[in-house]
Amino acid sequence: MKDCCQREIDYLRLSVTDRCNLRCRYCVPPEGRQTEGELLSDDELVDIVTAAASLGVRKLRITGGEPLVREGIVGLCSRLHQVEGIAELTLTTNGQQLEALALPLREAGVARVNLSLDTLRPERYRAITRGGSLERTLRGITAAQAAGFPLKLNVVLIGGFNEDEIKDFVALTQDQPLEVRFIELMPMGPGADVPPEAFLSCEEVLRRVPLLQSMGCVDGVARLYRLPDGVGRVGLISPVSRDFCGQCNRLRVTARGTLKPCLHTAQELPLRGLAMEALQKQLRRAMAEKPARHPDFVPGQASAGGRMMYSIGG
Ligand code: 5AD
Ligand code: SF4
Repeated sequence: MKDCCQREIDYLRLSVTDRCNLRCRYCVPPEGRQTEGELLSDDELVDIVTAAASLGVRKLRITGGEPLVREGIVGLCSRLHQVEGIAELTLTTNGQQLEALALPLREAGVARVNLSLDTLRPERYRAITRGGSLERTLRGITAAQAAGFPLKLNVVLIGGFNEDEIKDFVALTQDQPLEVRFIELMPMGPGADVPPEAFLSCEEVLRRVPLLQSMGCVDGVARLYRLPDGVGRVGLISPVSRDFCGQCNRLRVTARGTLKPCLHTAQELPLRGLAMEALQKQLRRAMAEKPARHPDFVPGQASAGGRMMYSIGG
């Protein structure tokens, strides 16, 4: 279905839990997560996706929190994959539990996996995630590749933390069929509190690796580059320095049952307890009321979305 601005809304991002086995410093506040209400049940999630597919949604991404900590995630993926009209099921994970789950997820019909990885150094990984193991995530990557998943690595750019690793991440694409995607830190939750000097624009990637060549195309919201003779590619995702609202084709469902037309506006439509027609009505409304673009970010302030990333999954 087209929205008010002739954008074809065919992409739904579904947060299946707001729990996570990590507590990344820019995502989870020091006092921990706050949640209220119940998670959506498997049946509710399947109904929501069925309603969305009936309105033209073709692509579905499972997010969290960390989706792999949800009990029964493989079975849920399998059910969602079978919803008529869903052509592509993908998942975003931090990889901590991917080693055991990669193959079952592949068999359940997950087509691609995006993996969040902000550093390649074990100490830094432990620090930014407050206790996570880089080793486990690397084992998850190996398992995902062995299971046949095309992989994208999501790297959030954080000044003073990982800018000296930009080259190392790009180098991974020289001989591996990976996409490394650099993402600007958005002002959400604790991410809004980082001082302005810690904000790194994606242009920093091009400044540090001038060898990168534009491929002259985009993949969703990422501008694509590659190293000369590189097997993989590099994606730049710049939600802050240049917004991509004009190309935004997505709706989002939060872990506890609301529909968000835009990540950075406060509007949320309740979905819980609704039968098929009522779900379709809410989805149509979200498409009709999806804003043309989000309000400008104000330095030092969280975006108007009013959500923590762990409850909506980016
Ligand atoms: N800005 C940009 N990306 C973020 N993520 C979490 N918080 C932010 C933020 N404030 C990323 C995670 C993960 C994905 C779900 O969103 O690192 O890759
Ligand atoms: Fe978990 Fe992702 Fe938030 Fe890190 S950024 S705490 S992995 S939800």
